Amino acid sequence: MTLYGVGLGPGDPALVTVRGREVVAGATIVFTPGDIAERLVEPYADHIERLTFPMTDDQAVLEAAWEEAAARVAEVAREDDVAFATVGDPRIYATFGHLDGALADYPAVEVRTVPGVSVVTAFTTALDVKIDEGSLTVREAAAGIPPNHPEQLLLLKVTDVADAHEQLTAAGYTATYGRRLFMDDATVTTDPDALSDSDYFTVAYAERADGGRSP
Ligand SMILES: C[S@@+](CC[C@H](N)C(=O)[O-])C[C@H]1O[C@@H](n2cnc3c(N)ncnc32)[C@H](O)[C@@H]1O
Repeated sequence: MTLYGVGLGPGDPALVTVRGREVVAGATIVFTPGDIAERLVEPYADHIERLTFPMTDDQAVLEAAWEEAAARVAEVAREDDVAFATVGDPRIYATFGHLDGALADYPAVEVRTVPGVSVVTAFTTALDVKIDEGSLTVREAAAGIPPNHPEQLLLLKVTDVADAHEQLTAAGYTATYGRRLFMDDATVTTDPDALSDSDYFTVAYAERADGGRSP
């Protein structure tokens, strides 16, 4: 049978797609990676089960977690349709990609995805940004600022806003930060001190202060 990777959008229940709701409602078990996804599927899912993915850079620990998750999903998906529901889009910087990879060991399980509204596009609405000329570079904050200093930059996983702000300012960017966008407690600010605590659900959007005129 099939594992559906379902994107739930950035956090507002109204931004879960109709197709996403239908697939979640039809799944025997809806697996989730965390609280936010769980809250979003609760109204539609019959049975929810949390899969745990450790926050670590240790590749061996991560691979073991993906393999364990794949084994559990495959156990159910052998007979039934199941879903893995995740914030945003399941193909964009998402754990689902790793789960999909680990499921290669279980060829009886077909894998499909249902796209969701990604923070990579939705941040524009929340931060009142237009992307129309030039190019937007998307990157994880831990990878640092690209040496070619692109005109427009979106950093994901900004857990240390003060550090990101220091790096962005030194590189000639003006930055806006968005935390828990499209959720009840969303914050949008240019003041790094307003976000001094660490929260995984934080992005930084930065534009070169010179508008890209200098090399
Ligand atoms: C692993 S990526 C997942 C992206 C997701 N699959 C998507 O398409 O939106 C997680 C990062 O996305 C960003 N993110 C996702 N949703 C967000 C939201 N609602 N508000 C702010 N940042 C968000 C944060 O930077 C977070 O660390």
